Amino acid sequence: MKRLQERIRQDGVVLSSQVLKVDSFLNHQVDPILTMEIGQAFARKFQADRVTKVLTIEASGIHFALATAYALGVPFVYAKKKQAITLPEDLYSVPVYSFTRQETYRISVSKRYLTARDRVLIVDDFLATGAALLGLVELVKQAGAHLIGVGAVIEKSFQEGRGKLEQAGVFVYSLARIESMSPGEICFAEETENMLAEETN
Ligand code: G4P
Repeated sequence: MKRLQERIRQDGVVLSSQVLKVDSFLNHQVDPILTMEIGQAFARKFQADRVTKVLTIEASGIHFALATAYALGVPFVYAKKKQAITLPEDLYSVPVYSFTRQETYRISVSKRYLTARDRVLIVDDFLATGAALLGLVELVKQAGAHLIGVGAVIEKSFQEGRGKLEQAGVFVYSLARIESMSPGEICFAEETENMLAEETN
């Protein structure tokens, strides 16, 4: 998605070769126009897949799931990180290890909002190590629902997330794939592919 790439270049801050700060427009202060365009881009990609529910995880996936669900005309559900005051048997729940915080937390979704009849599209802001997304995939499995795929707004292709998801048989679609980055420089996979295509033409 060209506009997203341009915005990442313009306003993203590369803190290290591993961490990209996008909190001025994506995950703290949020640009609503860009967010709605992101939702439309996911909806266009998955419009033929008869999605019945968009699933994400709090907090930074919520507005992208809302925009995508709105464009598809279906509800969205977000997995909670804090345990709700609900009976454990009413929840699908799975442990997720956070590499950034070096701790394990549980994510959960009510059994009422994810069922075997659902066709689920998972959406999240970052695809990095894949830990949180694999947790969401597991929740879909527990529900016996059909998983259509994962939509990531930004994929850090140099981390292992995509490989792990694909190994688990999950289709992955990302709107901006970062191949490498360093302070002052971001290299998108799509641009490398376009350059190679131009060279061979
Ligand atoms: P993932 O690949 O499935 O997202 O899992 P991972 O465990 O690698 O990511 C852990 C958290 O770190 C996620 O947020 C993810 O969005 C965030 N993250 C990963 N890489 C970056 C990065 O380069 N920049 C920024 N800004 N965030 C990154 P989370 O813990 O779920 O927190 P929340 O913000 O959604 O509440």
